[in-house]
Amino acid sequence: MTQFETVTVETDLLICGGGMAACGAAVEASYWAKQHGLKVTLVDKAAMDRSGAVAMGLSAINQYVDLNSGNNTLKDYVDYVRNDLMGITREDLVVSIARHVDSTVHLFEKWGLPIWKDKDGNYVHEGRWQLMINGESYKVIVAEAAKNALKEAKGEYYERVFITHPLVDGDKCVGAIGFSVRENKVYIFKAKATLVAMGGAVHVFKPRSTGEGFGRSWYPPFNSGASAFFTIYGGAEMTCQEVRFIPVRFKDAYGPVGAWFLLFKAMATNAQGGNYMKDNAAELDKWEPYGKVKPAPANIRNWLMMLDVMDGKSPIYMQTADAIKKITDQAADEKEAKKKLKELESEAWEDFLDMTISQAILWAATNVEPDKKPSEIMACDPYFIGSHSGASGAWLSGPEDLQTSETKSEYFWGYPHMTTVSGMFAAGDASGASSHKFSSGSHAEGRIAAKAALSYIVDHPEPPKVDQAMIDGLLKEVLQPLETFEKHKGATTDPDINPNYIRPQQFMYRLQKIMDEYAGGVSSQFKTSDKLLEKGLELMAFLKTDKEHLAAENLHELMRAWENVHRMYQAEAHMRSILFREETRWPGYYFRADKPTMDNTNWLAFCNCVYHKDTGEWDMIKRPVKYITK
Ligand code: FAD
Ligand code: ADX
Repeated sequence: MTQFETVTVETDLLICGGGMAACGAAVEASYWAKQHGLKVTLVDKAAMDRSGAVAMGLSAINQYVDLNSGNNTLKDYVDYVRNDLMGITREDLVVSIARHVDSTVHLFEKWGLPIWKDKDGNYVHEGRWQLMINGESYKVIVAEAAKNALKEAKGEYYERVFITHPLVDGDKCVGAIGFSVRENKVYIFKAKATLVAMGGAVHVFKPRSTGEGFGRSWYPPFNSGASAFFTIYGGAEMTCQEVRFIPVRFKDAYGPVGAWFLLFKAMATNAQGGNYMKDNAAELDKWEPYGKVKPAPANIRNWLMMLDVMDGKSPIYMQTADAIKKITDQAADEKEAKKKLKELESEAWEDFLDMTISQAILWAATNVEPDKKPSEIMACDPYFIGSHSGASGAWLSGPEDLQTSETKSEYFWGYPHMTTVSGMFAAGDASGASSHKFSSGSHAEGRIAAKAALSYIVDHPEPPKVDQAMIDGLLKEVLQPLETFEKHKGATTDPDINPNYIRPQQFMYRLQKIMDEYAGGVSSQFKTSDKLLEKGLELMAFLKTDKEHLAAENLHELMRAWENVHRMYQAEAHMRSILFREETRWPGYYFRADKPTMDNTNWLAFCNCVYHKDTGEWDMIKRPVKYITK
């Protein structure tokens, strides 16, 4: 067996992840750490410059509340988020982020991010809350600021170190364990407080892509449920684990639609040219009071489209040519129309080149000229992304100043954005029930959570108690797949087929098949039921026993093994939560065929859960939805 060096790192604040939330956390924590003589350490499984969902860049900043203009209020934003999530949202957390997000956007601009400006020097809005950017280097710019801040505060960052488990002492988080994906080193991070910001999860469900395209999905393949596992396994209460996100995207390469819908005002139609948003409008009555709000909730937009798909009216098209024609028709003369067309053409290509290069390649490869013919769009596979139009994540304490006499006992237990585990904070995709924070809001939430974590450390200066027996047990468990492979690899001539072990890819295929067929994936047209879920959970229990037989040939495959363990816990929390919520609330995300309607009397409530690692049991908890705005 290969020898591993054990590296122990002692720190005050540990930031797990290097994405938008983690970079925000690094900047803010460094500022406060300098004042208090504290140490901040950040750990990313990849290289911060190009890690997480923003790796390829983005074409828009999707949360800018623009409070200074006086055009929008915090209540406007909360109304938008609450309606989009069909009433299920923690308004205190949404406001906590929304009141700080504009300052984060101004920091991005200060650090060098080009935000589009009109001729009067004002930001160009994609939609009411969204700003257009030249964002190919978005993540590089944000990561550079985070690294500079850490260096200045004598903090540290570790790249290509994969976090597997939390370290827990009683009801307190005291750090994390992980391993290098490049060298034979395991890392024990001992910390007084830990901030979880390892993104959401993809490939829990079978993707639409197969064969040569496998791995291509909307959500980045690098985010594989580490945040969910970390918080679940650490004993934190989780929320909205049923609230997956299914975006509608350009087909096969998953290109963004926001610019087409909002900026270019394009229409999507079925194959016969029918406008499903209008033709299926009668359906909206069933989902009142959210069915008819403006803009229509993302899941409802999906649902009206899915009705046409189920009726055999696909392909569904984004009518790009019509949208372009409508804009160029407004030109004063032919010369201006030509100029406008050129502009629109380059904006359309940049939209893809800034954040989904593969869509530009697919357009080029299939001779698409957006001003001449429409492009197919479709509903993607389900993802777990609490920062976008999903809501899954840890259940957090809201800030005290935003509580009302009614919410305080439910939503406040100390430090803002701390989970129910003492010293464990969460932000971005890792935190639940505070959707629509996107890249900017995740960065802002990272800053808020980091500041709170620093004040927690100042109040709890005692060194973390880390039990050596727990570390020894985890070290063995983390490296076990390598040992299993070494021990048994000679038993067959094909290393993929072996009675003594299962390789991570096969494990993932099995997980995806269970989720796809029993929990409402693509091939089940996002439909499930109590009976399907019960059967799926039965099969999941078998998969869980095979976790002990995972085998890894090298460090890369060891990472794959743990990614899939993380996904499995996210999957189980998801199935249990869909089963617990006895209604259908987000028909365009998943549909419970045995409970096909929304039940506001009983289920205008949060569905939370807690995992007990010692017994393997889950508590399912219903928590009240209480609004702070009137
Ligand atoms: P991420 O930024 O994804 O960061 C997660 C981090 O965790 C990464 O550094 C990753 O390497 C690390 N990590 C994961 N697992 C581990 C582990 N086991 N150990 C250590 N580190 C780990 N928002 C906008 O504002 N505008 C847009 O136009 C926009 N477009 C988007 C397009 C796509 C395709 C996607 C997927 C998202 C888009 N978003 C957009 C949303 C935005 O990207 C997210 O809201 C934001 O990145 C969430 O921040 P985060 O820090 O939670 O996760
Ligand atoms: S992105 O994350 O890839 O940029 P997307 O393209 O879906 O997301 O949307 C960007 C923003 O526009 C999000 O805030 C989303 O909610 C909003 N949006 C997209 N399509 C519509 C629509 N048809 N109506 C209203 N808002 C929309």
